[in-house]
Amino acid sequence: MTHPLSTEAIAAHVTDALARLEGAADLAALDEISARLTGRRSELGEWHRALGQMGDDERREFGRQLHEASSTLRAAVAGRRANLEAAARVVRLEGDRLSLDELVDLPVAAPLERGHRHLVTRTRDALEDVFVAMGFRVVEGPEIETDWYNFEALNIPPAHPARGMHDTLYVDLGMAESIVLRTHTSPVQIRLMEAAVTERALPLHVVIPGRVYRRDTPDASHLVEFHQIEGLVVDRDITFADLAGTIRAFTAAYFGEDIDTRLRPSYFPFTEPSAEFDITCTICRGAGCRTCSQTGWMELGGCGVIDPAVFAAVGIDPTQWSGFAFGFGIDRCAFMRHQIADLRALIDNDVRFLRQF
Ligand code: PHE
Repeated sequence: MTHPLSTEAIAAHVTDALARLEGAADLAALDEISARLTGRRSELGEWHRALGQMGDDERREFGRQLHEASSTLRAAVAGRRANLEAAARVVRLEGDRLSLDELVDLPVAAPLERGHRHLVTRTRDALEDVFVAMGFRVVEGPEIETDWYNFEALNIPPAHPARGMHDTLYVDLGMAESIVLRTHTSPVQIRLMEAAVTERALPLHVVIPGRVYRRDTPDASHLVEFHQIEGLVVDRDITFADLAGTIRAFTAAYFGEDIDTRLRPSYFPFTEPSAEFDITCTICRGAGCRTCSQTGWMELGGCGVIDPAVFAAVGIDPTQWSGFAFGFGIDRCAFMRHQIADLRALIDNDVRFLRQF
């Protein structure tokens, strides 16, 4: 034992210990000093052990003094530790401080990902551009229609078998007339022709893009909600050749000059004669593949010369005016031009798919 146990020795030890703790330069030094001052092998530890050989009164008195000394030292260690930790924090923060030069040189954070318009919207815009360049106006119409506009005025009377071509979604608004989600964009033809008659605004050269609905089971090539673009021309001396030329010009502009078109005789109640139009298969470029069932052609839409019954329904004089109409799927155009395997991908909202376009 270096110093015999006495009140003075304890006081001297505490004074010396406090000075040494205060002198600890960093946390590592503090740990080392505090182990030496308070551990089992410290002077305090040895004095504690010496208590065993003392008489009761003496032991109680020195025990109290030693306990007090240890408490003082423990408090001093804690205090010094708090100071050193605070200082270390300041040093760390100082190290993190950036000068203006460094700030300017800092690499920018990854840019926020920017979205873009959906492929169907872009396709619609691209198609509109093609038709606007050809002199068409772009017009829209309602998605909820009366039976008259969606069917009757288009020469599709109630119970006519042609209604079977449309798997219609009816809307119950408690009205006498049946209300439908339009099954095609053709009802807007009627609205525009009616308005043109009242406003004496013929001729008409319009395209009508928009959403249409059918009670179909969705699969790779069908959706319940899809998009069409309708074309309508009412003018003097319009012939089927104008229709064919228009379709040819639009497909070449949108799909490319190497894509050909053909018209196949077909039937629509509101056009006569009617045709369906195909384009060269965009997958095999006409050679024949699975997508086009080896025909080399893909069906795009329907068209025809406006039926006199339709002109009669809207009050246009068929001896003065003639016209043509066509309609095709916007989603289908995107599908063909970008070789999408499944139309449902367009509505799944999976950005990994959508960001490719
Ligand atoms: N409305 C027809 C359909 O959806 C397409 C069409 C439009 C046909 C215009 C002829 C003229 O099937």
